[in-house]
Amino acid sequence: MTSYPVNMDITPEVEAFFDEPTNTISYVVKDPTSDSCAIIDSVMDLDYAAGRITHVSADRMIDFVIHHGLKLEWIIETHVHADHLSAAPYIQQELGGKIGVGEGIMVIQETFGKIFNEGTEFQRDGSQFDALFKDGDTYSIGNMQAFAMFTPGHTPACMVHVMGNVAFAGDTLFMPDGGSARADFPGGDAGVLYDSIMSVLSLPDEMRLFMCHDYGPNGRTIAWETSVAEQKASNIHVGGDKTKEDFVKFRTERDAQLAMPKLIIPSLQVNMRAGEVPTDEDGNPMLKVPVNGL
Ligand SMILES: [Fe+2]
Repeated sequence: MTSYPVNMDITPEVEAFFDEPTNTISYVVKDPTSDSCAIIDSVMDLDYAAGRITHVSADRMIDFVIHHGLKLEWIIETHVHADHLSAAPYIQQELGGKIGVGEGIMVIQETFGKIFNEGTEFQRDGSQFDALFKDGDTYSIGNMQAFAMFTPGHTPACMVHVMGNVAFAGDTLFMPDGGSARADFPGGDAGVLYDSIMSVLSLPDEMRLFMCHDYGPNGRTIAWETSVAEQKASNIHVGGDKTKEDFVKFRTERDAQLAMPKLIIPSLQVNMRAGEVPTDEDGNPMLKVPVNGL
């Protein structure tokens, strides 16, 4: 059993927003006893070919928060995403709230600060974020207590956020028929990911699990909600009688075949800065492409 402060009697309201270009699901989660809410894993729209950023996806979430008279307290990143850009600063500017991520962000900033040759002005201490979470840290959304679980393996900054009977799984898990996320990014580790997944699956069976991504395998309609019990029974990578050995072998072989996510280069540069687009020496927003650097 887990020593985390689980409270299954609290049932937050969850609204999902699916971003088709990146297969990302963002969430507004509301405290059932107040108007306070949090946003999990928002998306900023990028037309990479054109170098054009827009905020259609974030505006949908902002409109929802405003329309329902909610007070945004937290803007949570479950990890430094490699496949989409975060809209956290844009949302914060419109609605307020604190931007939080796992303290492992410092490891990511160190690694990719070097790869993108960011120089000394790029802080590698996580100070771009308002809060850095450690394993088991608690925080509140209105009257509701939330906590963060450290779940490395996919990346060194991954955390699962739990609020009442709801957990936001980030990229530790996909839907049962999607399995798990890759573990081959810098700082990733399949064995560590397995242990993190087991820790998530030690939460109560009835815990509702919300995914960060879904790709609708085998033509299935896009879905994002499952439960600990369903994952334990039928996740194709870790469910049933699958062992850690099975998982590490499968994950390692599979990862060796995967192409880089289309938006990894812009995503990392923006997301390691809490969603701020880097600027050139004249202060203009500008992204780099390290050649043969990844
Ligand atoms: Fe990810």
